[in-house]
Amino acid sequence: MTPRSLVLAIETSCDETSVSVVADGTRMLSNVVSSQVEIHARFGGVVPEVASRAHLEMLEAMLEQGLTDAGVSPQDLTAVAATNGPGLIGALLVGVTAAKTLALAWGKPYVGVNHLEGHLFASFLERPNLQVPMITMLVSGGHTSIVHIRDLGDYEVVGRTLDDAAGEAFDKVARYLGLGYPGGPVIDRMAKKFLAEGSGAPVQFPRGMMDDSLDFSFSGMKTAVINYVRKHPETPNDALAAGFQEAVVDVLVTKAMTAVDRYGVTTACLGGGVAANSLLRSEFASACAERGIDSLVPAREFCTDNAAMIAAAAHWRLFHDGPTSLSTGATPALRL
Ligand code: KG4
Ligand code: ZN
Repeated sequence: MTPRSLVLAIETSCDETSVSVVADGTRMLSNVVSSQVEIHARFGGVVPEVASRAHLEMLEAMLEQGLTDAGVSPQDLTAVAATNGPGLIGALLVGVTAAKTLALAWGKPYVGVNHLEGHLFASFLERPNLQVPMITMLVSGGHTSIVHIRDLGDYEVVGRTLDDAAGEAFDKVARYLGLGYPGGPVIDRMAKKFLAEGSGAPVQFPRGMMDDSLDFSFSGMKTAVINYVRKHPETPNDALAAGFQEAVVDVLVTKAMTAVDRYGVTTACLGGGVAANSLLRSEFASACAERGIDSLVPAREFCTDNAAMIAAAAHWRLFHDGPTSLSTGATPALRL
C-alpha cells in the first residue's frame, strides 16, 4: 500500500543521535540510534558541549542510514521533522538546523516536535488503535510527569516531580554508590540479580510524597540512600540498589494508578527511558491488569530516546496544525 505520508525525523535533544522514517504516523520503516553513553560515562553525566559535537559528527551518516534502511529517497518524503525542545540547546540546534536545511533543500515542509509529545506518541507506534482518553506516565532522565491525554494534542499534566526526575535519581544514586553512568540500567541489573539469588532482603527506604497528590519528590529518596550508607557502610550495593528501585517503582506505580482512578480512564501507558526498567514494566502491567484496564509498556527501543516517536508525533502535528515556520528555533525549556 502506498503510504499517505512519509516523515523523516531527527532526534538530538540529549545524548542519542537518531534518525527515523515513519509511514502514515505509525509504521516504522527505519529507526537508527547512536548512543553517546560511552562518551559521557567517564564524566559521570551528559556534557552538553560534548553532546553537540558528537551529534554533529554522527548526523550525516545516521541520515544516510535512516533513508537506506527505509528504502526511501528524499523526493519520497512528505516532511522533515526534528525535536525542537525541551533539551540541551546546543544539541537541539544540531537537529533543528539539519532538518530545516534539508527541508529547504528538498522542498519539503519542516515540522518541529516537542520531545515530550514524542514520548507520548511512542505507544501509538506499537498500538495505533490505542484508545484515548488515557493516562501516560513519562519517566526519563529529565522528566517525570503523569499526563492525562484527553485526546491527541489535548494534554493535561496532572502530576510532576517537584525536584529530581526519576531517571536523574537513579543516576545520582548509582553515582554515589560508584556504579557508573547511566545509573538506571546498572541498578536494574543489580537488583534483578540480587532478587534472583535470594541472598537477602532489599533495604527498605521511605517512599517520598505518598499522599494523594500526583506530584513526585525523588530527591529525598536519594538522600535516604546516602544517609543509610553513612550509618551502615557495610551494606552491599545490590541490597541498596534493589531497595531503592523498589521504593521508586512503588511510588511511580501507586501515583499512576491514583491518576487512572481519578480520571476514570481505561487505558494507561508508560514512556521515557525509565520505562525500560524491568520492575516498573512488570509492576505497572500488573497494577493495570488488577484494575481490568488496558495497558501498554512500549518496547525498550521506543521508551529511550528515538526519532521514530518524533516522526510519529510530527505526522500528527503536520496534519493537524500544518508545517512549522522555519523561523521557529529550539526551546530548551519547552513544555508539553
Ligand atoms: O528518555 P531517556 O532516554 O532520555 C531523557 O530524555 O532523559 O532517559 C534516560 C534515563 C536515564 O536517567 C537512565 O538512567 C534511565 O533513563 N534508564 C533507566 C533504565 N534504563 C534507562 N532507569 C531505570 N531502569 C532502567 N532499566
Ligand atoms: Zn526522552
